[in-house]
Amino acid sequence: MEPSVKKPWGGRFSEDTDSFVEEFTESVSFDKELALQDIKQNLAHAKALLKAGILSEEDYKQIEKGLREIEREVKEGPFPWRRDLEDVHMNIEARLTEKIGDAGAKIHTARSRNDQVATDERMFLKENLEEIVSLLKVLRRTLVILAERTVDVILPAYTHLQRAQPIRLAHYFLAFREAFLKDTQRFIDAYRRIDENPLGSGAVSGVDFDIDRFFTARLLGFTKVSRNSILSTSDRDFIAEVLFCCAITGMHLSRLSEDLILWASEEFGFVDLPDKLCTGSSIMPQKKNPDVLELIRGKTGRLYGNLISILTLLKGLPTAYNRDLQEDKEPLFDSLRTLKGSLIGMRKVLEGLKVRKQNMVSSAGGFALVTDLANYLAGKGIPFRKAHHIVGSLVAYLLEKGKKPEELTLEELKTFSEMFDRDALELLNPERVADRRRVFGGTAKEEVIRALEVAKREEGL
Ligand code: ARG
Repeated sequence: MEPSVKKPWGGRFSEDTDSFVEEFTESVSFDKELALQDIKQNLAHAKALLKAGILSEEDYKQIEKGLREIEREVKEGPFPWRRDLEDVHMNIEARLTEKIGDAGAKIHTARSRNDQVATDERMFLKENLEEIVSLLKVLRRTLVILAERTVDVILPAYTHLQRAQPIRLAHYFLAFREAFLKDTQRFIDAYRRIDENPLGSGAVSGVDFDIDRFFTARLLGFTKVSRNSILSTSDRDFIAEVLFCCAITGMHLSRLSEDLILWASEEFGFVDLPDKLCTGSSIMPQKKNPDVLELIRGKTGRLYGNLISILTLLKGLPTAYNRDLQEDKEPLFDSLRTLKGSLIGMRKVLEGLKVRKQNMVSSAGGFALVTDLANYLAGKGIPFRKAHHIVGSLVAYLLEKGKKPEELTLEELKTFSEMFDRDALELLNPERVADRRRVFGGTAKEEVIRALEVAKREEGL
C-alpha cells in the first residue's frame, strides 16, 4: 500500500486517518482562536532558528513574508482552515509551506506542538487577563462612584435575609468594591505565573538545537523562561488557576445580582433598574424583568463547571503531555468570554441604577434597631447576655402589642430595666444606630467617608 502523505506523521503510517477520527480529534474549530499568538510565536521561533544557524537569511525572509500574509488572511477572514490538519498549529505551518515551500517545512525544527500550544495559551491568557483586570477596574470605579452618592442613604442590612441592622448604602457598595479588588489581585497573581516562556521545551525533554529560550522570551514579551521542560509542556495549572479566579469573581457578581434582583422586586422596592437593560413579558404587560442580572447569576454555573472540568481533566494524567490536554481550551475560552460579558453587564446595570432612598430608610427602622438597646444596657454594665434577654422580652412584648420600637415610651422601657433613660429612646433612629458603628471598617458616617477616601485614592478617582 502507498504510504499516506496527507499527515505530517504519514511516513510511519500505512493507512489514511479514519474520517471519524479526524472529526473527533480535531481542535482547529476552536483553537483557531489562538491563531494570532501562534503566528507571532512562529516568527519568534524562526528568529531563534536563524540565530542558531539552522535557517539561512533567505529562509528567514521567506518565512517572515509568508507569516505576514497568513496573519492578514487570518485577520481578514480568507484563511483556508482545514479540519484534516487537526489544529491551529498544523494549519498555520501547512499554509506556510504551501506558500513558500521548503523554508516553511524547516520551521518545525527544534519544537513540538507540545511547547507550541503551551506558549500560545500563555500568550493568549496574558492578553485576556489584562483585559479582565481593566474591566474589573472599571467596575470597581463604578461602585466607588455609587458609594460616593449614597453615603447618606440608610437601609437595613440583612442576615439570613431577615432585617438585621441599619447600614449606609455606600458601605454596601464598598463591600463589593473590596471583593472585586481581591478578585483583581488574584488575577494579577495568576498572571505572574503565566508569564513564562515554554518555547524550546520541545515535546517533553527540551530540544537538541542551539535555541536561545531567553531570546524568544524577550521577543514574545515573557519576563521569565520556564525552568523545566517536562512541567512546562504538560502543566495546565495556570489554566485551572484562571478558571478559579473566573469562578470566584462570577460568584461575587452572582451574589450582587441576587441582591439587586430582590431589591428591584415590588416587595422590596429599593431600586429601579434601567429599562434598556430589562425585558418585558410577552403575556403580562406589567412585567419588567431583570434578565441581565439573572443571566449573570445563571452564567456563574458555567464558570464553576469549567473549573471542575479542568481539574478533573488533569487529575489522572500520566506525566507529561497527553492528548487529553486539548480539552483545556473550550472551558477556558468559555469562561473568559462569559466573565467579560458579565463584568460589562454588571457595570451597565450599576451605572443606570436608581436608588429609592425613601423605601430603603423606612425599612431600616423597627426591630433592626433593637440590638442597640441591648448594647445600651451592656454599656451601662449589664452583662450582654442578660441585656440581650431583657431586650428579647421587650421584642416579644412589642410583637404582642403590635407596636414598633419607635413607639415605646420611657415608662414602658423602664418596666424592662431601670437602667433605661431618655437617651435610650433617642437611639431608636436608623441613622443614629448606623453612626454608632464607629469601629474601623464599620458603617458610621465618618468611617464610611474615611473608607471611601481610601477607595478613591486606590482607584485614582
Ligand atoms: N491540539 C493539541 C492540543 O491542543 C496540540 C498539541 C498536540 N500534541 C500532540 N502530541 N498531539 O493539545
